Amino acid sequence: MDTAQQSTQKTYNDLQEHLGELEKAGLIYNIDRLINKDTEMHPLVRWQFQGGIKQEMRKGFLFRNITDGKGCTFPGYQVAIGALSSNPAIYSIGMNKPVDIIGETWIKAINNPIPTREVEKAVCQEIVLTGEEVNGNGKGMEAIPIPVSTPGFDVAPYLTAALWITKDPETGVQNMGLYRGNLKSSNRICVMTERTTLAGAYVHWKSYKRLGKKMPVAIVLGAPPIVEYTGPQKLPLGVDELTVAGALAGGPINVVKCKTVDLLVPAEANVILEGYIDTEYLEPEGPFGESHGYMQVEEYNFIVKIEAITKRKDAIITSIISQITPSESSVIKRLAYEPLFLSHLRDHLNIKGVKRVVMHEPLTNLRKVVTVVVDRALPKTEVWRALEGLASLQPAVGKICIAVNDDIDPDNANALLWAISYRCNPITDVHITPNRSPGHAPHTDGPKIESTMFIDATLKVDFPPVALPKKEFMENARAIWEELKLPELNPQFPWHGYSLGYWCDVWEECAERAAQSHWLENGKRTEMAKQKLPEPQTTISRDEAASIGQSSSKSD
Ligand SMILES: Cc1cc2nc3c(=O)[nH]c(=O)nc-3n(C[C@H](O)[C@H](O)[C@H](O)COP(=O)(O)O)c2cc1C
Repeated sequence: MDTAQQSTQKTYNDLQEHLGELEKAGLIYNIDRLINKDTEMHPLVRWQFQGGIKQEMRKGFLFRNITDGKGCTFPGYQVAIGALSSNPAIYSIGMNKPVDIIGETWIKAINNPIPTREVEKAVCQEIVLTGEEVNGNGKGMEAIPIPVSTPGFDVAPYLTAALWITKDPETGVQNMGLYRGNLKSSNRICVMTERTTLAGAYVHWKSYKRLGKKMPVAIVLGAPPIVEYTGPQKLPLGVDELTVAGALAGGPINVVKCKTVDLLVPAEANVILEGYIDTEYLEPEGPFGESHGYMQVEEYNFIVKIEAITKRKDAIITSIISQITPSESSVIKRLAYEPLFLSHLRDHLNIKGVKRVVMHEPLTNLRKVVTVVVDRALPKTEVWRALEGLASLQPAVGKICIAVNDDIDPDNANALLWAISYRCNPITDVHITPNRSPGHAPHTDGPKIESTMFIDATLKVDFPPVALPKKEFMENARAIWEELKLPELNPQFPWHGYSLGYWCDVWEECAERAAQSHWLENGKRTEMAKQKLPEPQTTISRDEAASIGQSSSKSD
């Protein structure tokens, strides 16, 4: 076991250091004005996502002066919101990797986990509160500034960035998942762990229940960002997320034994809540604003009794903006999930020619509409294997699966509809299969089983070019636009024409002549080809066009 001094060895930033990096990059607002955590804090940051602010302009917020409706203050605490993943730039600072290699970094880390390093002393245990110190008026959870996320609908402050560590009672392997936590009293929290997607803590709970034992749990607040990012990642059961966090960091994550439960927690975290989950009773939890975009109504969920709180002297905790997407929650999940699906299709199903997997984010919350971008040469049968692979990796992901070629940007819903409109014949290219779980969705009295829709919107044959001026003409015109000081441009796809295969040299030559103002030559070419035909709109194929060109050149 390592000594206390060695606990300072690490290849990753803790939350405080990360906030320092955000400060240097101009990516954090420090808010010193008094803010009510239950009515003002989340709505203020929410404006970043609902206020028409571009993704790259989003920042983190650090609240340093916090109150609530009862006029309480929270000495020894600050709250950071949006500081983990308001946008990919902030996430890339937390990950210490450029944005464009985040996906590959995830895939490598999942395949090469690094065991944790246990240390004796840790900053997360500078202060230790146990027993009656965490139970009663103004103590325990009441002393921590956990905000209300959806004021007006949520029924309590919620942990939204908490990492829940539990241990398999048979194998001893820990799991760490990011789950929501509904504060109930100074020492009681309710937690929802997904049953259909087999959340790690849910699986462990079943084992403890079978053994007739309560389940030890440690809840981590204000973890180092690299640790925080592994909480929402869906790893196979039996994989300790902290070992993948180590691989993301390029070195082991320091962990320390909890004071009252037999669990290891990240040593540089800000706050640890230690306790037990009841395996006999469940308690109503919610309503709470969910990431599927609707309120999750009350349901019976796990009860956690907190028996100890350990913390840094000056603690910073994080809260994540979730609810309707886009949100901080959808950014943190998207950067983790897309590489997982790409790797599944490319490396596990071995489908050559899969280029990207894109989860649609605004309003649909990533899981419902998933697009695979494939090479044009990919055979139809492989396109369909990719579509089916998208829908089958996780029960909650892939209700509508779409395949497109790489000129279509799946983040552009208009472009997706464009591809579906012209490159897909619904009777042959759309398939609906029954018996899908509704997955992560609002509770309603409607059917409990859904279906999956596959849409092949790839090009099946060559298409004529996209009807916009060629790139060089648009670029030249843009230079003139800027010279004339016309309003700033924000090019939208597609902003220039490009080939999709159905074209021929003669049409190319004619277009070149037109651009050089020699269009009269083109008129002479077609005059030679006039015919007595019964009806208009008689198509001329590219092969026929080539021969028209020949007769034209003869006439020249
Ligand atoms: C902000 C946020 C809140 C989440 N809340 C929950 C939750 O309350 N319950 C849950 O089961 N999953 C929740 N998730 C998704 C899990 O973190 C994700 O499925 C993760 O893979 C769970 O880890 P596990 O598979 O080890 O259980 C949330 C994710 C984010 C980003």
